[in-house]
Amino acid sequence: MNQVRQEFTAPQTQENRNKVKADPNRLAYHLMPPVGWLNDPNGLCQFHDTYHIFYQYTPGNPTGQDHRGWGHYTTQDFIHYQEENDPFVPDHFGDLKGSYSGSALIQDDIMHLFYTGNNKLEGDYDYINSGRIHWVMHAMSQDGFHFTPKEVLLENKDYPQNLSCHVRDPKVIAYNHAYYMVVGARTKDSCGQAEIFKSSNLHDWTHVSTITPIQRFGYMWECPDLVELDGRLFLFACPQGVDQVGYNYEAKYQNGYFELDRNLDIDQQVDLFHEQDHGFDFYAPQSFVDQAGRRILIGWMGLPDVDYTKPTIQQNWQHALTLPRLLTLHQNKIFQYPISEIEGLRNKHIHFDIQENTIYTPGSVVCELQIRPQGNAWTLHLRKDCTITYDGKLFTLALGSSGYGRSSRHIEIDTIDSLSIWSDTSSLEIFINKGEYALTTQLFDGETEMRLSSDLGMDIDFYSYDHFEIREKVDKEDPTLA
Ligand code: FRU
Repeated sequence: MNQVRQEFTAPQTQENRNKVKADPNRLAYHLMPPVGWLNDPNGLCQFHDTYHIFYQYTPGNPTGQDHRGWGHYTTQDFIHYQEENDPFVPDHFGDLKGSYSGSALIQDDIMHLFYTGNNKLEGDYDYINSGRIHWVMHAMSQDGFHFTPKEVLLENKDYPQNLSCHVRDPKVIAYNHAYYMVVGARTKDSCGQAEIFKSSNLHDWTHVSTITPIQRFGYMWECPDLVELDGRLFLFACPQGVDQVGYNYEAKYQNGYFELDRNLDIDQQVDLFHEQDHGFDFYAPQSFVDQAGRRILIGWMGLPDVDYTKPTIQQNWQHALTLPRLLTLHQNKIFQYPISEIEGLRNKHIHFDIQENTIYTPGSVVCELQIRPQGNAWTLHLRKDCTITYDGKLFTLALGSSGYGRSSRHIEIDTIDSLSIWSDTSSLEIFINKGEYALTTQLFDGETEMRLSSDLGMDIDFYSYDHFEIREKVDKEDPTLA
């Protein structure tokens, strides 16, 4: 084992894992780092019937400083998870300051991983326009567990000359009889955009086009994805530096999509950004198509540079991944909704109708709630100090002290027919109208029983609820610890 790998692995001892595991805020059915910090999902794919879920991982530090590599889980059914060896640690000149985000492509029975090597040169640099390395790196695997040495595919000098050093997060797809790679970029004059490269062999890449917004839309676009749904093509991206307009763009950094023209060989201008998840803790999602042809998306349940926090840092871990969500296109909107495998976690089921101003404690906070509000103005109290309200036009999610600085988020919505809520010990994923809108948040209220009540009934008589207790996912640990 090389020294960098040894340092990367060292904090992942059984003792540290056990301390982390003892934290009551650990989630029951979401993926989290075994110890330390997790951010973006990476390299999502299904290979030889196994789903691979890689992620940005800093085991040695719950605030994510230094030493960022890739962690790795596998699953066959999204209920049983196996922790696997970490494929990348920052041990190459190109990635000494982090094996950053990237993607997977399965081709001819080989798993190809592409990612950003991040390094900072010693010296007096601003690390935006000078002094930073952002290279596209590549490795291959025949089994999904052992990888060829890292290969540098593109260096900063290979990118268009008007770009700053911030060019990252390659996503590669097979499309129109060629391979296309999209990377997110910041120009020298601080405009966010996406760059498209093309290849016939996955090793040699040529820049073919640039995707820019009609009007400047933030200073940097992170984690782009090229997503085909029903024959239409979309660019997913995470723009940074977009100002809030009304109830739009309330989050610190955005996540959402633009529709693209299907010809990736020519420059395009995009308009009309659709926000994807409106919660406090959602960023850097990545999608993939599985062997059944489903387009599945997983997001990072977290967001960088925010002024709210998580008490889990004191317990030596931070962040999680969202549930895997099926993407479907409905006219011009992409819906997202937990994949059907998650129903396999359902336990006890209670159906009940709730009246005004009564507190119900149907059971564990680790649950799925299917709610049908009758009426178009209502307020529901979920858990201790979390409230969701709809006034016929505006949906609001509001948190009290359990939000640790998370206050409120809003979405303008014409009609709400249903709410589907996945609640875990310290998280909520809320889907409105079966996935037309989504909000993801963490909250730390220490509750173990779901408490539901309503007020401000106005024209509402009752809500109909289905409460499903959810059992824990099954974890198997890192085989190297055995
Ligand atoms: C998004 C991001 C990516 C980068 C990675 C580093 O959260 O900043 O752009 O590759 O995280 O961990």
